[in-house]
Amino acid sequence: MTAARSGGGARHYIVTGGSSGIGAAVAGRLAGAGHAVTTIARREYAGDTENVRSLRCDLSNLDRLEAILAPLADGPSPDGVVFCHGRGDFGALEQFSAARIRELVDLNLTSTLMVARLLLPGMKRAGRGVLVLMGSEAALRGARRGVVYCATKFALRGAAQALREECSTSGVRVGIVNPGMVESAFYDHLDFAPGEDDANHLTVEDVADAVLLILDAPAHAVIDEINLSPLKKVVRRT
Ligand SMILES: NC(=O)c1ccc[n+]([C@@H]2O[C@H](COP(=O)([O-])OP(=O)(O)OC[C@H]3O[C@@H](n4cnc5c(N)ncnc54)[C@H](OP(=O)(O)O)[C@@H]3O)[C@@H](O)[C@H]2O)c1
Repeated sequence: MTAARSGGGARHYIVTGGSSGIGAAVAGRLAGAGHAVTTIARREYAGDTENVRSLRCDLSNLDRLEAILAPLADGPSPDGVVFCHGRGDFGALEQFSAARIRELVDLNLTSTLMVARLLLPGMKRAGRGVLVLMGSEAALRGARRGVVYCATKFALRGAAQALREECSTSGVRVGIVNPGMVESAFYDHLDFAPGEDDANHLTVEDVADAVLLILDAPAHAVIDEINLSPLKKVVRRT
């Protein structure tokens, strides 16, 4: 990773799920603005890697997180952490074994709390920084076949609100973005996808815009939550 380019304003951001979709878009935008970015995912960031360092990590392997992320936790505190990892798993609750429920909760929810828990002490000591969690429209409204996924996203939203309060005295700001359907690889392993018309889905860049708004808010202001969705929701069976 080369040093971030822009003088004075260059920052260090950590982006989970930075290998694909929303996370890759956020990483690309931040790196393109001259900031140093560390992505965390099982695969490396595939874009222009100037300013981007990829830390390969299976975030669902909770027992190993502390060891793998120790260099980040012990290093200089990041200016922002954007949580973009996660996956969808949908079906009637009866179809979910305990292991299948645990896998989704571990990845979407518990790993987010663990990464935040590892990085927050340094950010609080530094007295600055922003956490951006990735919720969903599924964090706002329950939907059929989405019991477990919605449970993880509602929980993330609760965590974001609680963290926002908990961190405010230390100068660390916390926000959450709740997108509706976004065109991405998220749907590659699912039996549905957004409609193909441009009005039926957000782009990853739309969501990156929302993330950047939260990251770039002035230090005295917190954008707690951004909800965004496509103009017309159309769900296509695939
Ligand atoms: N697409 C949508 O319609 C939509 C709508 C609302 C919210 N969201 C949320 O947005 C986030 C990103 O989704 P996306 O649309 O960008 O999907 P995506 O393109 O599939 O990206 C998912 C990211 O999560 C990472 N990831 C998955 N499993 C992982 C694991 N075990 N360990 C580490 N990283 C892992 C993937 O990296 P590796 O595969 O390299 O590990 C990838 O970078 C998710 O939290 C999703 O719930 C998506």
